[in-house]
Amino acid sequence: MDKIFITRMLPDPELIEKLKEHFKVEVWEKSLPPNPEELLIKSKNCWGMLTMLTEKIDKDFIKKNQELKIIANMAVGFDNIDIAAAKKQKIMITNTPDVLTESTAELTFALLLLMAKRLPEANTAVFKDQWGPWHPNWMLGKDLKNANLGIIGPGKIATAVAKIAKSFSMKINYYGRKPKVNFPGTYMKLDQLLATSDYLSIHLSLNQETHHFLNSSHFKKMKKDAILINTSRGKIINQNHLLQAINSNDIGGAALDVTDPEPIGSDSPLLKMQKIFISPHLGSATQATRYKMASMAIDNLILYKTKNYCPNAIV
Ligand code: DGY
Repeated sequence: MDKIFITRMLPDPELIEKLKEHFKVEVWEKSLPPNPEELLIKSKNCWGMLTMLTEKIDKDFIKKNQELKIIANMAVGFDNIDIAAAKKQKIMITNTPDVLTESTAELTFALLLLMAKRLPEANTAVFKDQWGPWHPNWMLGKDLKNANLGIIGPGKIATAVAKIAKSFSMKINYYGRKPKVNFPGTYMKLDQLLATSDYLSIHLSLNQETHHFLNSSHFKKMKKDAILINTSRGKIINQNHLLQAINSNDIGGAALDVTDPEPIGSDSPLLKMQKIFISPHLGSATQATRYKMASMAIDNLILYKTKNYCPNAIV
């Protein structure tokens, strides 16, 4: 039987049983991911792998795995994999699109609301005994109605975010490489989007073009009280520049579900900023969504084996 290595426990052991009907399966059961050496050892002679975004599948790894036919990545993003190298070696790569769209959009909106109403700051104030008698000017946040939500990267998650935002009567504008038919918002040039957004939400996939896509030159063009939200990938924002921008009050605050690196060290200066809220990469973190992601990755492995077909092939 061909061998599959799964780099982490999946949400439901039944999924692994399903895979075992077709393959010999080994699962990495520790909670920390395998390090590069361990990954190399475990992947040896594997026909396929089911990986997470924590596994760096680079040129060197691919070269050393000549037997490998498929990598099913349990994520919609695949910036952890050198796609060109995989293509060259004819390794099939699959991802898990669509099933996490709503969960990630909901998390994006949770962050937006949290920042608009200053909930992290307010909660800290309560714990620090700073909650005095009701005061007309204390802890004032921002409204959503008629506020401008700027979106960068008008993909599926951004579309779901825009739909939620519409129900709060926000005005939606967006920037992408080109205007997108049927996107529920108005296309703007990047500078115009930066200048007009009260909230700016990033929905780009990470690649060479988008690495540090947002830097100080952009932050300087934003409204002084604008809130930045990132639920895509940490490396899309130049974090040092973001820190400076918040310190110099170029923008009002940021909520980041993704950072560079991940996990972010507890000594990171980002964690000392009142105006930055960080959640630990929770976009797809619901029971139902993680089950669907794992199930999709498993189906790609089985279908490739039995029908030579992958519904979610990237290459
Ligand atoms: C993805 O799927 O790319 C997410 O970042 C993980 O939830």
